[in-house]
Amino acid sequence: MICITGTPGTGKSTVAEILKRRGRKIIHLNEYIDRESLFEEWDEERESLIVDEEKLKLHFLSLELSDVIVEGHLSHFLPCEKVIVLRAHPRELERRLRKKGYSEKKIKENVEAEALDVILIEALENCKEVHEIDTTSKLPEEIAEMIEDVIKGRASFPPGSIDWSEEVF
Ligand SMILES: Nc1ncnc2c1ncn2[C@@H]1O[C@H](COP(=O)(O)OP(=O)(O)O)[C@@H](O)[C@H]1O
Ligand SMILES: [Mg+2]
Repeated sequence: MICITGTPGTGKSTVAEILKRRGRKIIHLNEYIDRESLFEEWDEERESLIVDEEKLKLHFLSLELSDVIVEGHLSHFLPCEKVIVLRAHPRELERRLRKKGYSEKKIKENVEAEALDVILIEALENCKEVHEIDTTSKLPEEIAEMIEDVIKGRASFPPGSIDWSEEVF
């Protein structure tokens, strides 16, 4: 199992669509969690579903999936062989989320999380092989190609070159 994760707006679903068109099997984790009722409850305050990450992991372990790409901002909690963390510069992320119609509160929350590497840190805690791709000035097609290379073991994009912490201030 390969996971594509990242802060909302970093382009996970967009790149997953391209990989699907190229013949890859894709699971959109948010839709899957909804369909299988794998969430605990709706968090009114944070405008998001509350998910038990351990339960989610056990569910996927029991499925024993192979040759599948899971995309979603919680996918790095799953038992996966490789995790690809998509990144976007906070200003670009803000632009993308505003265009998507996110509330100002959600934009701020996600931009801050991106600047502070929140998902990357979680991914490093949960997975053995983590890759990081900065999508800020790349076309989705180019990113899809990089992910194919990671899956086939032809390329590696180790994390560590991004520092947007100053953007928080
Ligand atoms: N590489 C990219 N460059 C510029 N804009 C992008 C890129 N990838 C996605 N977008 C745009 O950013 C927004 C968020 O993309 P989306 O795939 O929905 O992100 P996610 O699934 O990670 O929340 C969409 O409007 C999409 O068209
Ligand atoms: Mg998405």
